[in-house]
Amino acid sequence: MTKRHLKLTAATLAITAALSLAACGGEPDHPEETYDYQIDMNDYNNAITKQDEVYLLLANKKTVLGSDYAPKSLSKVPTELTLYGKEIQLESNVALAAEALVRELHACGYTDIVVTSGYRSYEYQQGLFNTYLGQEMAAHPDWSRKQCEEEVLTYSAFPGTSEHQTGLCMDLISVDHVSLDETFAKNPAYAWLVENAHHFGFILRYPSDKTDITGYSYEPWHYRFVGVKAATAIHEEGLTLEEYLD
Ligand code: DAL
Ligand code: ZN
Repeated sequence: MTKRHLKLTAATLAITAALSLAACGGEPDHPEETYDYQIDMNDYNNAITKQDEVYLLLANKKTVLGSDYAPKSLSKVPTELTLYGKEIQLESNVALAAEALVRELHACGYTDIVVTSGYRSYEYQQGLFNTYLGQEMAAHPDWSRKQCEEEVLTYSAFPGTSEHQTGLCMDLISVDHVSLDETFAKNPAYAWLVENAHHFGFILRYPSDKTDITGYSYEPWHYRFVGVKAATAIHEEGLTLEEYLD
């Protein structure tokens, strides 16, 4: 290959990479413009666009699921897309949509992002809540149990009220920073998610400016599936799920 050929090949590669990244970052100027998916969506299109009332199920402090609620069908998220390859399940359709979202993140260069939590049973949430309660009580020996519980309730759902019990949401994490905290919002993938998660049917469920409506503090890592149609409306109008359903 001549020097000129090498130069041309390098230039072509650079242009292709730039175009591909532009597509990844690209929020269309007009809402009617379509998103340019980087991955082959053939296996995922049905999943992300599915409309069923179950995908609009509300679970929060006021709308309680109870101890008996469980998703009708659960599927595993591919372990190559989960933190340390752990087994994580989501409602079967949501598992596919989540797979598409994380594969797209990887295709766009955000290769450090994986799923760290999905479906959680009532009993699992109970254990989690009690662990947090124990931690708050140890950290604040002068607080009453009720005060500690109130503190936990700002960031963890009481068993029977967690959206994780629906199997419709997941927590994302970076393998380079494996704790769920607000530093996730500084990861470049977060800006991409805020702009593009709705193209896969997901919404940022607990935004920083809506804590009074959602009842929970800011969770930049928690994404809830509602389907592309509802997610697009929620994204474009800057709503929470509570406001959308109201
Ligand atoms: N962290 C969210 C609110 C939950 O526990 O479901
Ligand atoms: Zn979560």
